Amino acid sequence: MSKKLLLKNAHIEGIRYFETYRKHGGYESAEKALKMKPEEILEEVKTSGLRGRGGAGFPTGMKWSFLAKPEGVPRHLVVNADESEPGTFKDRYLMEFLPHLLIEGMLIASYTLGSNTSYIYIRGEYSWIPDILEAAIDEAKAAGFLGKNILGTGFDLEIYVQRGAGAYICGEETALLESLEGRRGNPRLKPPFPAVKGLWERPTVVNNVESIAAVVPIIEIGGAEYSKIGVGRSTGTKLISACGNINKPGVYEIDMTITVEEFIYSDEYCGGIPNGKKLKACIPGGSSVPIVPANLLLKTINGEPRYMNYESLSDGGFATGTMMGSGGFIVLDEDQSVVEHTMTLARFYNHESCGQCTPCREGTGWMYKILKKIWKGEGKMEDIDLLWDIQRKIEGNTICPLGDAAAWPVAAAIRHFRDEFEWYVNNPELSQTQNYGLANY
Ligand code: NAI
Ligand code: SF4
Repeated sequence: MSKKLLLKNAHIEGIRYFETYRKHGGYESAEKALKMKPEEILEEVKTSGLRGRGGAGFPTGMKWSFLAKPEGVPRHLVVNADESEPGTFKDRYLMEFLPHLLIEGMLIASYTLGSNTSYIYIRGEYSWIPDILEAAIDEAKAAGFLGKNILGTGFDLEIYVQRGAGAYICGEETALLESLEGRRGNPRLKPPFPAVKGLWERPTVVNNVESIAAVVPIIEIGGAEYSKIGVGRSTGTKLISACGNINKPGVYEIDMTITVEEFIYSDEYCGGIPNGKKLKACIPGGSSVPIVPANLLLKTINGEPRYMNYESLSDGGFATGTMMGSGGFIVLDEDQSVVEHTMTLARFYNHESCGQCTPCREGTGWMYKILKKIWKGEGKMEDIDLLWDIQRKIEGNTICPLGDAAAWPVAAAIRHFRDEFEWYVNNPELSQTQNYGLANY
């Protein structure tokens, strides 16, 4: 059974409220941290090996240490709660049921970074959660954990919740900052990174909800102990939101030592595939990461089991592996059509492109149109090559990673399921009534 750090108290009734949270050890890590020097906390976070839980897996302690500290210039912590990656809903769970875990993590992180004004930028579709967060902020303030001179330390902190308006692109950190400043959420060119020039051109750390929540157990047990959980550079625990063709969709906390097979089939996690169907493929890290067919998902090319961690999922590179990403684990059974699935994603990325770069603005639209044509049984063999060519011209040629995120699912689908694309071209009369999955498994 995986160790629980973030969700260990999630089952307790009323844990959303300050009194219950506090009764179960809440804010003890904050009390401990506020007695430490910011440099000591930073060292603990570095030692823990915590990697950003939003998707990129960038080492959190390293990001914090990059924060510029010019004299007299305020700096900020911004929590990225714009969780919009299809298949990803773990941050929603944390904010809805454990809002004080996030606020306690923000207090520790803000104190470490020297931020007196910190923000939670939350996606517009999570319309009921800002009220939960704001109620928790009020409770924490009333108890002296926010506001002026927190616990008599002289440290002041205000936290504000800002609602987005439902744009996927505002989860990209610089688009998020633009939106927070009141402008259209267009990504900025990096560098400069937010750590140097972020919110209102001030040094800013942007961290995912889960990354900040993880700081609480790191302070509680110490960075060294935290780093012993998991394996290699995949330390600590990770929240996975599992969905698709599985018996038990939901949010699971894993310690990154379990195999993908165990995660899908064990009753502790997904509980297998409904109606005894076969596994066809999986997207383990949210829709932007490459889809992997069952044979490469359960085992690597060397025949080793594939594990639920950063290294093992990407083992073999993008040609055979995929990515841990945001932990949005989407399972496809034998009846699902990869062509249809890829078309749906292409439509999504086309709709969400901000339109600043030509390869992304035009390319995502082309990919969607071609995929739709193939799916409708109107495609030609050359369309598959054209699709491949377009995705290659998008990848690496855009301002922000949305372009790559649109290209990778198409590349992986063609790489691993080309026969299915060809089946759609060769069987136009069947394409709408019977998909490749049904015909070939
Ligand atoms: P990135 O790799 O460009 O950056 C990661 C973080 O490290 C950023 O905060 C960046 O500012 C910081 N960083 C990197 N190099 C730095 C340097 N030299 N100095 C200072 N800071 C530095 O990745 P990005 O664009 O932040 O995230 C992309 C990921 O987001 C994708 O892998 C995707 O999986 C994920 N994603 C997650 C979503 C969700 O809903 N959770 C939605 C869409 C994408
Ligand atoms: Fe906008 Fe797409 Fe360019 Fe990102 S890659 S800046 S979403 S056009």
